[in-house]
Amino acid sequence: MRDYFTSQSSLHVGIIMDGNGRWATARGLPRLAGHEAGAEAVNRVVEAAPGCGVAVLTLFAFSSDNWSRPKKEVAALMRLFACYLERETARCVENGIRLEVIGRRDRLSRKLLAAIGKAERATAGGSALRLRIAVDYSARDAILAAARGLPQLSRESLEVRLGPPVDLLIRTGGEQRLSDFMLWECAYAELVFARRMWPDFDAADLASALQDFHCRERRFGAVPVPSVRREEAWLD
Ligand code: IPE
Ligand code: IPE
Ligand code: MG
Repeated sequence: MRDYFTSQSSLHVGIIMDGNGRWATARGLPRLAGHEAGAEAVNRVVEAAPGCGVAVLTLFAFSSDNWSRPKKEVAALMRLFACYLERETARCVENGIRLEVIGRRDRLSRKLLAAIGKAERATAGGSALRLRIAVDYSARDAILAAARGLPQLSRESLEVRLGPPVDLLIRTGGEQRLSDFMLWECAYAELVFARRMWPDFDAADLASALQDFHCRERRFGAVPVPSVRREEAWLD
C-alpha cells in the first residue's frame, strides 16, 4: 500500500483552473482573451511543477458541463486546445513532460483528436512530469466508465483506471466547490481555494499552495503520529 505519510516528494496535484472569464471581463476584454491568458498560466505552472516536488499534475481545462456554454465560446476553447497542443508539444518533449488527455473523446473534433494523439505519442517518453489535461471531463462519468469495464470491482482496480490519489487540489477563481473534478481521487486530498483568477496564477502561487499543503497534518482517519508516540511512551 502507498505510504501516504512519507511519499511527499512525488505529489499528485490537481488544479481547477477557474476564473478566465471574470479575469477578461474585469479588463473589458472578451472571455476568449481570458482563456488565452489562461494558457500562459498553464505554461508557468507546468514549468514550475517538477521543481516543487510534483510528479503528476492534472489540470481541469473543460468540463462535460461546459458544453452548455455559448457555441462560440466552446468552439474557441476547442481551437485553443488544439493550438496549445500543437505549439507546446516540442517544449514538453524538451522538458521531459509526458502529456495525457483524460475525459471523453467521442465528442471532440477530428482535428483536436489528431492533435491529442500526436502530442501523446511525441511526449510518451517523458519522465520529469506526468501532465494530465482533463477535456470533456466529468468525474462521475469517469467513475462509471471505469467501473463498467472492470471484471472485478475494487478500490485498487478503480484506482488503476482513474489515476493516482490526489494529494493537493487547488481551485483558483474564488469558488469553493469541486464541479465534478476527480471526486474519487480527491477522497483525502488537501484543498486550497485561491482567490486569484487563473490567468494571474504563477509559480509563486503554486509554491505558496504547496507550502500550505506541507503545513497540513494528513491523518487519513488515523490519529496524529506524534500523539501515537506519546501514548506508547505513556503505556510503557
Ligand atoms: C475556467 O474559467 C475555464 C473553463 C471552464 C473552460 P471560466 O471560463 O469558468 O471563468 P469564469 O469562472 O467564468 O470567470
Ligand atoms: C470548472 O469550472 C471547470 C473548469 C475549470 C474546466 P466552471 O466554471 O465550469 O465551474 P462552475 O460552473 O463555476 O461550477
Ligand atoms: Mg468558471
